[in-house]
Amino acid sequence: MKNQPIGFLDSGVGGLSVVKEVMKKLPNENIIFVGDSARNPYGNRTKEEVIQYSKELSHFLLKKNIKMLVIACNTATAAALDVLKEELDIPVVGVIEPGSKSAIKKTKNNEIGVIATVRTVESAEHRNQISHLNPSAKVHTLAVPKFVEIVENNDLTSNYAKSVIERELKELKQTAIDTLILGCTHYPLLADLIQDYLGEDVSLVDPAIATTQLIKDYLMTYDLLNPSKEKSTDSVFYTTAKTEKFEQIARNWIPIGQFRVENISVEELQK
Ligand code: DGL
Repeated sequence: MKNQPIGFLDSGVGGLSVVKEVMKKLPNENIIFVGDSARNPYGNRTKEEVIQYSKELSHFLLKKNIKMLVIACNTATAAALDVLKEELDIPVVGVIEPGSKSAIKKTKNNEIGVIATVRTVESAEHRNQISHLNPSAKVHTLAVPKFVEIVENNDLTSNYAKSVIERELKELKQTAIDTLILGCTHYPLLADLIQDYLGEDVSLVDPAIATTQLIKDYLMTYDLLNPSKEKSTDSVFYTTAKTEKFEQIARNWIPIGQFRVENISVEELQK
């Protein structure tokens, strides 16, 4: 069991922000990632659709013998974490609770921003978790679906990307937030541009960091840490879209990672 891979799912390339952190902190773990870029974005879909797709992705990962599931997508976490926890008999973690907890630790003035997809903002999961943990925190949420499109297109540094960030975050910049949760796993790929625009007074929270700690805690609790002393060479990243663009984004984003990229069709997932 300990040598089995950890499974990760996302609506596209965004989940790689979590995979990157796990590869850095837990380098001997094998990873199977599946990104559903063919049906991206999930953020504009109904809750029922997101639950259905998340089930399909997790069933595919289960067939690969994963020992633990990481829902590396805020939208899928908001819609399907409870369902998948109930349904699967392996540990399942999401990214919303770790992100919310990190923001509470980081903020000094209790004004926290959350940028996410439309579906995640509508779910109010971040707001609920933050208010539950710290009732005096003021939460400013904003849906920025355009950022997902930019990342899926691997348009991470262009003037167009900069102008979209400036336009979409203009109002948020006027608020008193000192901490901003990147509440969609695609957004850390734009972190430098977002930081440049908001300035150093706003601390960005990439939920991948606390999520990786949570993964480690789970693996230790369930005695599932991979005992191998060798760095993993067995990781596989699946995409439901064409492999070329996915691979380009993955190799740029995780230059140190050893992995191979493969396609899995949506039809195959639905079998
Ligand atoms: N990466 C996903 C998230 O964390 C969502 C992107 C999308 O498909 O809309 O919410």
